[in-house]
Amino acid sequence: MEVNKKRWLCGGTAAALALALAVAGIVCWFRTNRVPPPKTSIRIGVALYRGDDTFISTVRAALEERAKAYEQETGIKVVMDIVDAKLNQNTQNSQVERFISLGYDALCVNIVDRSAASIIIDKAMDAGIPVVFFNREPVEEDMNRWEKLYYIGADAKESAVLQGNILVDAYKKDPSCLDRNGDGMVSYVLLEGESSHQDSLIRTEWSIQTLKDGGVPLEKLTGGIANWERSQASAWMEQWISEYPEQIELVICNNDDMALGAIDAIKRANIPRGAIKVVGIDGTPVGKEALAAGDLFGTVESDREQYARVIFDIAAALALGKGVPEDIHLDGGKYYRCPQIALTGEK
Ligand code: BGC
Repeated sequence: MEVNKKRWLCGGTAAALALALAVAGIVCWFRTNRVPPPKTSIRIGVALYRGDDTFISTVRAALEERAKAYEQETGIKVVMDIVDAKLNQNTQNSQVERFISLGYDALCVNIVDRSAASIIIDKAMDAGIPVVFFNREPVEEDMNRWEKLYYIGADAKESAVLQGNILVDAYKKDPSCLDRNGDGMVSYVLLEGESSHQDSLIRTEWSIQTLKDGGVPLEKLTGGIANWERSQASAWMEQWISEYPEQIELVICNNDDMALGAIDAIKRANIPRGAIKVVGIDGTPVGKEALAAGDLFGTVESDREQYARVIFDIAAALALGKGVPEDIHLDGGKYYRCPQIALTGEK
């Protein structure tokens, strides 16, 4: 009797154990095989190299607009956290680390030092979080390290050729428009962006090349690096106006903010509006105001709405675990170059 009871107890325990195992197995199967419910919200971390850069602030505003429109179109809630590295790569690395540790779904990075992207890339790769770089292009070797890395920017050669052609057209129409003193040479000064930025070197090279190819006789008086900044450009221009009195006919600038700095100095020196021609690149709202006022001779505007739409839409699609939207055509599966147009006071 005792033996039977023991056997019965043993049998019962085994059956209960088998049942428990079966239930655990089913639960486990469902956990691994069930399709997760579609996401109803996404979190995107945006890291800016410098929040007070005029061009970058316009991209930021366009990104915020796009995020709002996207929420309305899709009903998906977007949390977009935007941080400013204030020109410090270490600060930016920590900001990105924080986004990663908080489990953000995608990152948009305007990197401070374009040659130092590998730290951010390594961390994002480990966590499986895609990165859309913009405006400051990481080196190719880094961009090729993972398929979930993208770059959005404006083609620097195209900006420069458009800028150069504004001047070529003006010279062809009326050489005295640029060669004010009629000595057969257009005497220019050059204001360049950060030396480490891909846009500075290429813009300078192709702007000058386009002028030469277009038959504009050129004489370079001097040039300087003003790091995209209005105040630095203004200081250079003030110095050059006193070093080369009455000689400067043209100021070629790698961006609009530096063009505005040059204009500030021209105004301080009481040189009549338009006597020295100044050209920029970006088509920022302040730049366009100067164009309308006749202070800026020409600029090249990048389509910021499209710029921001592409950055945001790629990040959002990847955040949802989808591929890049079909209407966005990428070069080499990674690069998008935003459309640009030349603007002059006449248009
Ligand atoms: C823009 C500049 C801006 C810089 C920042 C350039 O492409 O033309 O205005 O300051 O990017 O990275």
